[in-house]
Amino acid sequence: MTTRPHDIVVFGATSFVGQILVRYLYDEFGVARDLDWAAAGRSLPKLEAVRKALGRGGAKVELIQADAADEPALRALCKSARVVVSTVGPYALYGEPLVRVCAETGTDYCDLTGEVQWMRRMIHKYEAQAQASGARIVHNCGFDSIPSDLGVHFVQRHAQEKFGAPCTTVKMRVRSMRGSFSGGTVASLLNVLKEVKANPALRKQLADPYAICPPGGAKRVRQANVGFAEYDADFDAWVAPFVMSAINTRVVHRTNALLHDAYGPDFRYDEAMLTGRGLRGRLTAAATGAGLGAFMVAGSIGPVRTALEKYVLPAPGEGPSPEAQLKGGFDLRFHGRTAAGDVIRARVTGDRDPGYGSTAKMLGQAAACLAGDVAKKKVSGGFWTPAAIFGDRIIERLQAHAGVRFELLEK
Ligand SMILES: NC(=O)c1ccc[n+]([C@@H]2O[C@H](COP(=O)([O-])OP(=O)(O)OC[C@H]3O[C@@H](n4cnc5c(N)ncnc54)[C@H](OP(=O)(O)O)[C@@H]3O)[C@@H](O)[C@H]2O)c1
Repeated sequence: MTTRPHDIVVFGATSFVGQILVRYLYDEFGVARDLDWAAAGRSLPKLEAVRKALGRGGAKVELIQADAADEPALRALCKSARVVVSTVGPYALYGEPLVRVCAETGTDYCDLTGEVQWMRRMIHKYEAQAQASGARIVHNCGFDSIPSDLGVHFVQRHAQEKFGAPCTTVKMRVRSMRGSFSGGTVASLLNVLKEVKANPALRKQLADPYAICPPGGAKRVRQANVGFAEYDADFDAWVAPFVMSAINTRVVHRTNALLHDAYGPDFRYDEAMLTGRGLRGRLTAAATGAGLGAFMVAGSIGPVRTALEKYVLPAPGEGPSPEAQLKGGFDLRFHGRTAAGDVIRARVTGDRDPGYGSTAKMLGQAAACLAGDVAKKKVSGGFWTPAAIFGDRIIERLQAHAGVRFELLEK
């Protein structure tokens, strides 16, 4: 392992989020200073442009050319890196060869996927190989699902300290979120809808809160799911469905399973968006629920999906402007209750738009955590979740270097 020249290689350095990540790594770690990292992708001219944008100091960044389907090139890439961080998506279309090669070569890996059906396939196909080779594979290292997964970890740590027991029920409510989607994210979401259309059995898998839990693991209990407008007495407000909940809840349940039911065998977790109080809150919740439902229906009808892709939604490579990223942010509220009825409240906030500015910083710190904080001797290979592998270490990094704060609330 020690002979691998780079601590981290960013595969997909030319993607919308990859370019923000490269700038972040450069500003945060330099080039071959605190952390040795390199940039990889399929197009050398595009990689050169990304490197040039860093200014003179960026000339030291090594560039590696590899196509996502070229296994010999990916093998060479993996052999040059302790950690590969990938932003090449949709992962269900391009991601499998790299995961396979990482699992084969014992290379640690993290990414931004939120494609549950793909993660399930990867775990099923490559977990045994990753365990044998020592490769630690960590999906979901962006807005989905670090704030949710680590937010629950934070709540549970404090519940244990304060009450000597975990919260058997945790709710996450999105209080605010400023930011928009990039073309890559839209492409990933639409690809899930396409896969479901081609294989209706997937719908059942995607509806299962335990979809990516190890088989025979956690006890299955009925999970709450905000499917339309609802009044939430714990927050004294109306709530609407949250589009990322179908990803984040699955990741949080896998964390609980990997931690041997540390949150309890009948742990319940759900997510929704706060829309306010009174009639206005109720109407906003109903409109949000209806809007999300309409988008899902439209996206699953082939010709409508094509028209949305062509005329309405951002194309791959497009995303929010640097100004919009700076003005963005998120505020997530957590409410946990133990079996004895003790309550704990917490907040997780971010200082950039969730999908890109904040996501790139979270991904950069996840890669750095994998390279520097979780020794291979102590943490074995396999498919991990961010909270199960990083725990408090990444909370410290995110608070100190990524503008993400985790706080307990009095009320
Ligand atoms: N979890 C989260 O919170 C979160 C947030 C943001 C994004 N994401 C996900 O992250 C991924 C990237 O998003 P984005 O908006 O940055 O995407 P994007 O701008 O569309 O970029 C896609 C990247 O994939 C590369 N690529 C495509 N085909 C390739 C191939 N055959 N070989 C090598 N590279 C290939 C592209 O290279 P070229 O530049 O050469 O075309 C580009 O670098 C998406 O899957 C998105 O869903 C997740």
